[in-house]
Amino acid sequence: MAIITIETTPFEGQKPGTSGLRKKVPVFQEPHYLANFVQSIFDALDGIEGETLVVGGDGRFFNEDAIQIILKMAAANGIARVIVGQNGLLSTPAASCVIRKYGAMGGIILSASHNPAGKNGDFGIKYNARNGGPAPESLTDRIFENTKSIDRYVTSDASDASLGTIGTQSLEDMAIEIIDPVTDYAELMGSLFDFDKIKALFASGFIMQFDAMHAITGPYATAILEGTLGAAKGTVINATPLPDFGGGHPDPNPVYAKTLFDTMFGEDAPDFGAASDGDGDRNIILGRGCYVAPSDSLAILAANAHLAPAYQAGLKGVARSMPTSGAVDRVAEAKGLSFFETPTGWKFFGNLLDDGRISLCGEESAGTGSDHVREKDGLWAVLLWLNILAESGKSVADILSAHWQTYGRNFYTRHDYEAVDTASADAVMDGLRSNLNALVGQQFGDDTVTIAEDFSYTDPVDGSVTSNQGICIVFESSARMVVRKSGTGTEGATLRLYLETYEPDASKHTVETQDALAGLISVAEHISGIRARTGRDAPSVIS
Ligand code: G1P
Ligand code: ZN
Repeated sequence: MAIITIETTPFEGQKPGTSGLRKKVPVFQEPHYLANFVQSIFDALDGIEGETLVVGGDGRFFNEDAIQIILKMAAANGIARVIVGQNGLLSTPAASCVIRKYGAMGGIILSASHNPAGKNGDFGIKYNARNGGPAPESLTDRIFENTKSIDRYVTSDASDASLGTIGTQSLEDMAIEIIDPVTDYAELMGSLFDFDKIKALFASGFIMQFDAMHAITGPYATAILEGTLGAAKGTVINATPLPDFGGGHPDPNPVYAKTLFDTMFGEDAPDFGAASDGDGDRNIILGRGCYVAPSDSLAILAANAHLAPAYQAGLKGVARSMPTSGAVDRVAEAKGLSFFETPTGWKFFGNLLDDGRISLCGEESAGTGSDHVREKDGLWAVLLWLNILAESGKSVADILSAHWQTYGRNFYTRHDYEAVDTASADAVMDGLRSNLNALVGQQFGDDTVTIAEDFSYTDPVDGSVTSNQGICIVFESSARMVVRKSGTGTEGATLRLYLETYEPDASKHTVETQDALAGLISVAEHISGIRARTGRDAPSVIS
């Protein structure tokens, strides 16, 4: 066994996006591609010698190969100990939990979240810092700078580690600890929620279906829901993680989680339905015959979190990403909670959570979380919902309609135009940007534009400024349209159009979402020219 230095040259385009570096598997398989990025991470960190690192991923194709490369490089870079989930598995929130629990310097998480996997699917890598959260922009910028000038990396010629064996092994002078991926996370969940109440709910005949979409949450959901909480066997479907996610697209939205939606809207539907994504950080919530839009779910959790032991004393504050609907703003206002609006991406919540300014946050893209870890957390949200259902004795549909009655309803939808060519996507964004000043004061139908801006965020904790985060156009009626370019895609560009109106009148709350928003949808097309410029006559996904 020896430590060796390998000469290399930079690859173009190793710039981390909304959530780490994501590329097609064959790109990551090119010799030196992954190693260059990993060395660039290590070189961007100060004093890594003697430290502990956590490594794990969502089990997608290339996960274990990548971990073997990382382990050898970690040893060569002087890291003292690496904690790895058995068989290379760790959900994203579990990785955050393990980093925090064992006081690690940080972790490398291997995932492309909800993007499809397999030989020609997507792969991804990101670095999470000591707080368990995604690296801040200052660090990802440093990593990117390193990728542009890298000329060598160090590794070991030792043989592969045995990822299936729980316990400690060594590689050069470094210890590798293989841990059960579920235990620490399950223990944390048990400390936050009233498991006895939830157990009693299941014992009373409450039926649930959880779709793990052949991705990472299978083992976690089976152990916690069926094992600890006594939900019926078979509650968790598609429970075995597969390297290609069974050929599916593990994004829990009405399109890709259709089976679950059909079940929940079918005859004899269960009481409660939920699903998570590829790496376990997203969630969707359904009741019998009803779907809770993620922005509403965030607002409902904010309004009811005190029913769970961890949040009994009340929330410190709440935050949402800019494109997320304003439903949670109304809860914050009514409860006198401090409130923050951040750019898209979980990394922007990190400082607010670390500084104790918020305890709950979320995004419209099916992400909700709290200060228990520094990632959004799919199963956590499901368990908080279960705790609220158990404590209140109400159904999901009752909770949803009561919430709208109290706070009014924010009708909300997101229209995605996927894989459009980059030039037309840029034309849409540039067209909007150059027209912002002229839009203010213009009338469309009965409504007038009051604000038209390119969203920019100043972090209240460290003062850092993040600009160009999406075009946001607000109308007098408080209707809002947002257009931004996705930062997680791997093919062409994806444009996201977010639309929202507010309806205080409870007699109008049951209107179908797309119908309620029809007027705004056509105004948004008029203002952005999205369909005309991309040549698409409809969005690829409506959620
Ligand atoms: C998407 C979501 C965003 C989320 C991110 C990572 O990013 O919109 O809310 O944080 O995935 O899960 P986007 O592709 O829009 O940049
Ligand atoms: Zn995810």
